[in-house]
Amino acid sequence: MSEMRAGVAGEYLHLNRANWDERAPAHVASADYSVARFLAEPDFLSGVVRFDRPRLGDIAGLDGVHLQCHIGTDTLSLARLGAQMTGLDFSPASLVQARALAEASGATIPFVEADVYRAADVLGAERFDLVYTGIGAIMWLPSIERWAHTAAALLKPGGRLFIRDAHPVLMAVDEKRPDALTLRYPYFERPEPLVWEDDGTYVDTDVRIQSTVTHEWNHGLGEMITALLAHGMTLTGLEEHVSVPWEALPGRMERDDDGEWRMLEDPWRLPLSFTLQATKNA
Ligand SMILES: C[S@@+](CC[C@H](N)C(=O)[O-])C[C@H]1O[C@@H](n2cnc3c(N)ncnc32)[C@H](O)[C@@H]1O
Repeated sequence: MSEMRAGVAGEYLHLNRANWDERAPAHVASADYSVARFLAEPDFLSGVVRFDRPRLGDIAGLDGVHLQCHIGTDTLSLARLGAQMTGLDFSPASLVQARALAEASGATIPFVEADVYRAADVLGAERFDLVYTGIGAIMWLPSIERWAHTAAALLKPGGRLFIRDAHPVLMAVDEKRPDALTLRYPYFERPEPLVWEDDGTYVDTDVRIQSTVTHEWNHGLGEMITALLAHGMTLTGLEEHVSVPWEALPGRMERDDDGEWRMLEDPWRLPLSFTLQATKNA
């Protein structure tokens, strides 16, 4: 059950981390993250990375970092495409699962625990060819400007940022109005968080979360691009998609053969996700 409460700026790191620490084991146990297939099939890739693959191109040999890597399924997928990956997340329970998956798969992937805004301090500035992130990532961060600063700081000159995430218009839609597409939540970044209370998660599971309160923020596409340009990045690609990898508007979506969720009716009304690519100026 999901409820939004009045927004009060608070201890977002503490609250969100406690929530993600509980989700991690439930996600590993859920068929939705396909951990058993990763272990059984050495070439198996996550649905997220399969979607990204034509846009990613050849990443073999690149030094990559996956920000907000969660239980490491996308990180491992990128490593299986030949990149030397590092994963970073602030949830120790997620990283326990990520390390176990990599080890059982025979992959060497350092997984580092840190707040994403500290990534360049912890991992080193100008170190990576590829910063990869997304699918439920930037909504947990209060400032897109600080995120852009972090991504730019991590990249070598000429290095590439790749993000596919939930579209900010989708994030503004009222999920409780099945009869109409109504904008209820902010499209633009606001200083105060959206405060949610929810004992569920987005995978098929019976687990009920005890740390139910989370803080989230939306960020407009223009705000993302402006922040990246201000931090010495050049925009190289922006696509809006009619699908997203989870059932964002329950009851109004159907799953396609690739595991992506689309609107049942008139899917051209609403962008559900976006892919943004940018390179760091030399
Ligand atoms: C939905 S997952 C995104 C990863 C990937 N798409 C997936 O589904 O496995 C969101 C991740 O962001 C992490 N996270 C949230 N806020 C963070 C922060 N401030 N710093 C680092 N990680 C954060 C959470 O711990 C969680 O693992």
